Amino acid sequence: MLENSFDNLIQKQLSRRSVLQFGLGAMLASAMPLSSAATILQLHPQLMGFKAISVADLLDEVVVPEGYRAEVFYRWGDPVSDGPVFNMDASNSAAEQALQAGMHHDAIHFYSLPADSANSDHGLLVMNHEYLDLDVIHTDGSHTHAPETYTADKVVKEQNAHGVSLIEVKRDNGQWQIVRPSKYARRLTANSEMQISGPAAGHDLLKTHADPEGKNVLGTLNNCANGKTPWGTYLTCEENFHYYFVFDPKHPRDAETERRWKRYKLGFSYYGWQQFDSRFDLDKEPNEANRFGWVVEFDPYDPQSIPVKRTALGRFAHENVAIKVAADNRIACYSGDDARFEYIYKFVTRDSWDGTPGAHHGKLLDEGVLFVARFDDEGIGVWLPLIYGQNGLIPENGFSDQGDVLIHARAAADQLGATKMDRPEWITVHPETGEVFVSLTNNSERSETNPANPRQPNLYGHLLRFNEVDATSTEFTWEVFVLAGGEEHGATINGDIFANPDGLMIDQRGLLWVQTDISSSKMNEGEFAQFGNNQMLAVNPATGETRRFLTGPVGCEVTGVTIKPDMKTMWVNIQHPGEMPAVLEKRGIVKSPQNPSAASNWPDHLPNGRPRSATVLITKEDGGVIGT
Ligand code: FEO
Ligand code: CA
Ligand code: CA
Ligand code: CA
Repeated sequence: MLENSFDNLIQKQLSRRSVLQFGLGAMLASAMPLSSAATILQLHPQLMGFKAISVADLLDEVVVPEGYRAEVFYRWGDPVSDGPVFNMDASNSAAEQALQAGMHHDAIHFYSLPADSANSDHGLLVMNHEYLDLDVIHTDGSHTHAPETYTADKVVKEQNAHGVSLIEVKRDNGQWQIVRPSKYARRLTANSEMQISGPAAGHDLLKTHADPEGKNVLGTLNNCANGKTPWGTYLTCEENFHYYFVFDPKHPRDAETERRWKRYKLGFSYYGWQQFDSRFDLDKEPNEANRFGWVVEFDPYDPQSIPVKRTALGRFAHENVAIKVAADNRIACYSGDDARFEYIYKFVTRDSWDGTPGAHHGKLLDEGVLFVARFDDEGIGVWLPLIYGQNGLIPENGFSDQGDVLIHARAAADQLGATKMDRPEWITVHPETGEVFVSLTNNSERSETNPANPRQPNLYGHLLRFNEVDATSTEFTWEVFVLAGGEEHGATINGDIFANPDGLMIDQRGLLWVQTDISSSKMNEGEFAQFGNNQMLAVNPATGETRRFLTGPVGCEVTGVTIKPDMKTMWVNIQHPGEMPAVLEKRGIVKSPQNPSAASNWPDHLPNGRPRSATVLITKEDGGVIGT
């Protein structure tokens, strides 16, 4: 597809459609935001200037191109402010963990200080901590290794290693440092006070013993990727929330509840929290799981701000939120549901943003319409509205009101006949053309293809791109941007190869950064050996040219990237270094709480070390723009 210009394809589709449905005016308007390839090349002739690096085969380091520097900046356990230091034997208490970086860094975003400035030398870094490595979090292991040593305190430590970190960062004499103490620094955890707003707030299905009003909840879980609103708040996305709740399948309950829990795959917990915290036991607190799976907004500039779960955006395994502002200043929020055969959604606000910053504009996210995508043949697609009372979202089909539709967005999307995708991960919007890129990471279970998911099975993943006349449009045009994998897998990569795309960011110059998440069960061996350790690449969206920019340490996933306004500093997150690659297990290497660094000892490489997820600071040695 890359040899054909996307513009031409879109123009062809739109002109054919326009004759049928629209007038000439609509046709001309639609051409406006779509002149991508030529515009980008004219504006950014030197989009990529660095020399690509090779794949890393089980190398336990971060590698960047010649002329670039990568420094470890903020590791699991580092204090957010002037808090407790990290104990390398993982003996920090639950209370200490609440003042230190959480585990499994994911999405990250830089906010300039002062607020609403474009200062590149002082700001806030806000990032997610998605989940835990149970071999690494405690000195003597978690509930699976040492059930007899599992305590309420270990549960709270695990809860406190989840959530969000906010640190203040500053460049002094050319050196970046974390400001300690900082009045901005904070941690959100699985126990932080939060509110619920939007159409589902106060719904019967959100009420619990501790919260009979259904409007206040403790904490956020499995914070995967993020979004930034035009008014300057941070959006953190709750992804695999189902891994935290259990129930006894033998316990009697109504068929409706059973069906709903099954649709969200509830029932198995990776953790053992229910042993000491009854809200994770659905037999005791059946609605608690309905209070997770949302997009959570908070104001990073106000250390007292209370995060708000915005139910209008729907409940599913949210990967991230990408935002586009419509011509009339309404806001479109794109979000993928990362599970096999799940959907891509778009929320459009009812009201327009008035263009001024300030957290109070968050109320915009409480009223609007949630849509789900149907990808049709010939590069055309439709956004289907999830509105109670319409298109079969009625009591006869199990929907009682709009809150119910949002709490069970997956079931509502099933009802509408949306397109089942190959695990939608990050979505990003081109700042100039408005094109939307989405990564579909893989789907080993796909046996039937559809136009937007053309492989069976899809082992290596692909990227789609789509565009609309306006962010509020209910139709779109789309194409497969690139099929990942090796040449022998039919990949269409123009340059350095990769598999299982996940993190995406288009920077201010229009360069697309792609991060990969090959599973540790597959990495570094067999068909996947050629891709090496997980990595980050830069892609020219106009030509598809792809160059490898960074490779991560053993067992890690590379996820989360942010660039400050002058484009001269980038931060990248390295998640779960030392997650045991199966290829090492086959060599007889055993990882355990007693030998946590069996696969990786990054970043500290100390004799008593343990792998620690970390933020890496990337600069160009000549002080230039990243990517050139
Ligand atoms: Fe948290 Fe879908 O990755
Ligand atoms: Ca991801
Ligand atoms: Ca992934
Ligand atoms: Ca991963």
